[in-house]
Amino acid sequence: MTAQHELRFDLAPGGKLGGCFAVPGDKSISHRAVMLGAIADGESRISGFLEGADSLATLKALRQLGVEIEGPDQGCLQVQGVGLHGLRPSRTPLDMGNSGTSMRLLTGLLSGQYFASELIGDASLTRRPMRRVTDPLIQMGARIATSPEGTAPLHIQPAVGLTGIRYAMPVASAQVKSSLLLAGLYASGETSVIEPAPTRDHTERMLGALGCAVDQDGACIRVRGGQRLTGTAIAVPGDISSAAFFLVGASIAANSELTLTGVGVNPTRTGVIDILKAMGADITLVDARDQGGEPVADLRVRSAELKGIRIPSDLVPLAIDEFPAIFVAAACAQGETLLRGAEELRVKESDRIQTMADGLRVLGIEAEALPDGLRIQGGALQGGSVDSHGDHRVAMAFAMAALRASAPIEVRDCANVNTSFPGFASLAASAGLGIVERYG
Ligand code: S3P
Repeated sequence: MTAQHELRFDLAPGGKLGGCFAVPGDKSISHRAVMLGAIADGESRISGFLEGADSLATLKALRQLGVEIEGPDQGCLQVQGVGLHGLRPSRTPLDMGNSGTSMRLLTGLLSGQYFASELIGDASLTRRPMRRVTDPLIQMGARIATSPEGTAPLHIQPAVGLTGIRYAMPVASAQVKSSLLLAGLYASGETSVIEPAPTRDHTERMLGALGCAVDQDGACIRVRGGQRLTGTAIAVPGDISSAAFFLVGASIAANSELTLTGVGVNPTRTGVIDILKAMGADITLVDARDQGGEPVADLRVRSAELKGIRIPSDLVPLAIDEFPAIFVAAACAQGETLLRGAEELRVKESDRIQTMADGLRVLGIEAEALPDGLRIQGGALQGGSVDSHGDHRVAMAFAMAALRASAPIEVRDCANVNTSFPGFASLAASAGLGIVERYG
């Protein structure tokens, strides 16, 4: 057993949430800010960068590839862009840790380089499917070897020249789309990606902000190779995926009222708000504004009586990371909540359908795992000991469940909360959650 397995959350039952605070910077945007800043011409000044293990893995990899980066210091970074062709080979493998976004996006970026790279990850990342990016990249001319199972480690050979392709994605995945757009910068001609459903568009927005033309025609996103990027200032908004735990916590705990400031509300990310509102949540967007091409607002949430719903399938990709929190809301709602069309949850940091169903059942909730979703009957939460399986979002979701539990909850294997939300336990405690971190 490694040290990672030794952190657990001990949660006192009941309580309420209150206050006004910011959550850490958006993980998806933080990754993209350092990657695009690295291959831009000139300096990029990034603020609000998420200092979590996942985005720090991307940062470290770019340093290994010869990019000078000052910081992070309280979320501020200066990246000295090396230009489209200025990256240098790393002498050692690039370790992506637990981060699927780092591995999939950097695979696209590194496929177009005239040097070899090796990408490795932790046990969870090494189980996750990589052919979804390597197959289309190989079609573009990339030379990448995976394990026989199509997983990391990934060995990328020096490029002999990429060619733009037109690729209809079989799964709605922003990581696949972004990986291909990044490789497309190094390809001859145009690279087009067709989405089966809209997914987060941070790569497209940020490429635009750095002066690179990206065209969108319905579901088809196109980029021309060889375009140069220009360094700029990037202010990363708060992560709606981290805010989601507090949106659920304040909704389910009586007499709660919270304001979360400066949260990114890009419409490709706000499925969690739409789903919670459809369940009866009291969430208001205040002071909606633009921050460097990304919509931002303060989110005000008050406790509410929730009811179970059938989750509309078009919202699935727009709330893909928020289902662990939404499932806890469903456990506290009147009646049944049904999610279908979400098989992607089985290949996240854990199998989130199974880990959430198992944990909810430990807490006395009827939860039926389906191949592509979950059926949850709202009820009374008991206490108990829940295994997060090293999945940060599962751990934080079950921490919030304690607000409605009748007895203490223990959540095991919580060290990976640091991948996306460093300081979660102390921020949640200051908002009113009875949470204590224990080692051993
Ligand atoms: C992400 C895309 C999503 C999401 C992940 C971050 C991104 O993954 O689950 O946490 O930053 O592009 P998929 O593209 O696999 O859906």
